[in-house]
Amino acid sequence: MSSTSGDPRQEHDQDHDPEHGYRHLRVDRTGQAEAFDRIGGRYDEAFPDKEGQIAATEWLVASLPAGSRVLDLGCGTGVPTARLLSQAGLEVVGVDLSDVMVALAREHVPTAEFHHADIADLRPAGPRDLGRFQGVAAFFSLLMLPRAEIPLALRTIRHLLAPGGLFALSMVEADLDDFPIPFLGGRIRVSGYRREELRAVVEAAHFDVVGESSWTCVPAGADVPPEEHLFLRCRKPDA
Ligand SMILES: C[S@@+](CC[C@H](N)C(=O)[O-])C[C@H]1O[C@@H](n2cnc3c(N)ncnc32)[C@H](O)[C@@H]1O
Repeated sequence: MSSTSGDPRQEHDQDHDPEHGYRHLRVDRTGQAEAFDRIGGRYDEAFPDKEGQIAATEWLVASLPAGSRVLDLGCGTGVPTARLLSQAGLEVVGVDLSDVMVALAREHVPTAEFHHADIADLRPAGPRDLGRFQGVAAFFSLLMLPRAEIPLALRTIRHLLAPGGLFALSMVEADLDDFPIPFLGGRIRVSGYRREELRAVVEAAHFDVVGESSWTCVPAGADVPPEEHLFLRCRKPDA
């Protein structure tokens, strides 16, 4: 594993400082949840090609012990990720910023537990404590954060994972920071990285990257051009 900061004392202090990093950040979610409230089930129609996501979810299922607790971060409609994880017998908790997405996910995956919450609320000693997980999936949700917040979200994910826990991440490959784009009839702000940079950001957050893949996705008749989807399979080191 490579990392930019290997000082364990610094990491320890950060894990016990709830506001570390967020203190210097103005968290602005204006319009982001509302956009997904309006999109609802149209999201799955616009992005029918879920091959990469299904493969990454299957990696979690195949690699985690039976009955493991798994978090789907920015779960959207719950399809396919929460549904597949739950069908495999894992204990699934989903979180999303959009009320409508949480309602759809509850409808689609009644065997899982869903919460209306912000990724930032799950930070160490933050306002929501959902316990610890053996696995976390964050598919196309961290891209809705400004770049300055993405390392903090990765630190939150590390905090939520048990030692040796697995993390499946997907992002769209793009050199953007909190950039407004038209999206399914509305506007959202998105961030992204080129693939080498994404890997560096994830490794700097003290994850081992154990696998990487990419898929070209052509959204169905939407106002979204073809995208390159990057998938990283990661592990939180033991202890
Ligand atoms: C592009 S969709 C991806 C949905 C799902 N993970 C999938 O891949 O099908 C992004 C999702 O992240 C949610 N989201 C955006 N910002 C969030 C935040 N700060 N905290 C929690 N969820 C967020 C959105 O509401 C939306 O459902």
